[in-house]
Amino acid sequence: MQSRRRKNLNVLVPCFITLAIMCGLVAYSPELYRAFCGATGYGGTTQRAYGDPASTSQKTVTVAFDSNVSPGLPWRFEPEQRSVTVHLGEQKLVFFSAENLSDQATVGHATFNVTPPTSGIYFNKIQCFCFNEERLDPHQRVDMPVVFYVDPAFSKDSDMDHVDTITLSYTFGRSASPSQAKDLARFLADAAPDAIHGRELFTQRCTACHALDRNKIGPMLGGVVGRTAGSVARYNYSAALRNAGLVWSVDKLDQWLADPKKAVPGARMPVRVLDAPSRHDIIAYLQKVGVSGQANGKTRTSEPEY
Ligand code: HEC
Repeated sequence: MQSRRRKNLNVLVPCFITLAIMCGLVAYSPELYRAFCGATGYGGTTQRAYGDPASTSQKTVTVAFDSNVSPGLPWRFEPEQRSVTVHLGEQKLVFFSAENLSDQATVGHATFNVTPPTSGIYFNKIQCFCFNEERLDPHQRVDMPVVFYVDPAFSKDSDMDHVDTITLSYTFGRSASPSQAKDLARFLADAAPDAIHGRELFTQRCTACHALDRNKIGPMLGGVVGRTAGSVARYNYSAALRNAGLVWSVDKLDQWLADPKKAVPGARMPVRVLDAPSRHDIIAYLQKVGVSGQANGKTRTSEPEY
């Protein structure tokens, strides 16, 4: 009797476990598929990156752009350049324009892929409107920045030997969750900078090397706006920055972040922020935080969804 029950259990328990795993797979299959595509680049899914790759290469690849609008979204949406040729590992800034042709505010969401699909794993986006749901006011038109690079490992993959052009394709469709939309007006030239988004970008793109209240690989940045360049105690600056003789105004920080080695030849910071709206947001955040790195209440208390 005992042994028959045990035998039954020996059959039933694995059956239940298998059933549970199968139910889990079905329930989570969209997430699993997305995670799988994200990790492998399968199906032309591209990667998201937060900073420069470690190295650049002499080899180049052409990136062509393609744009589509799904029926039901009254927008015009086009790349502002047909293609660009980039060095592998080189960050590149390109623009797309979008215009709402209707009399109503509408929210769109861009899906994207690259061809050949297997190149997706090498295609890294740092800045893209496709990360969010995006709202355009009636008849509003904006130029939207995209910053990307192609991983230098691309040239080491024998499957990519014959690939000299990667096509990046976007399709804008009507958003399924318009309540989460961000305003595309943030890309207009006169848009006010967003310090909350700046804090987010600072965390993603600066904190590998900087803190607000202590020196790391880079000098501490709390109170940097208005400070003399190269002046933090006990930080070993390059001679170029120590002797630059400049004060970090908003404009000077903007030039520095766009290209540190051009702003101060001989400086050592290896990072660039190519799109102006991101730079303005980061600087607005640095302006808001005090010398000690304690933000005033506003910046810290709200938790943005970016
Ligand atoms: C990979 C490391 C690294 C990253 C990431 C990085 N920095 Fe730096 N940063 C440095 C180094 C190194 C220096 C010192 C340069 C020198 O001495 O020439 C520096 C210097 C600076 C300075 C000058 C400060 C002073 O005291 O004069 C500013 C401002 C700055 N960084 C801002 C930023 C911001 C904002 C970000 C994020 C967008 C960022 N950095 C990302 C490494 C980095």
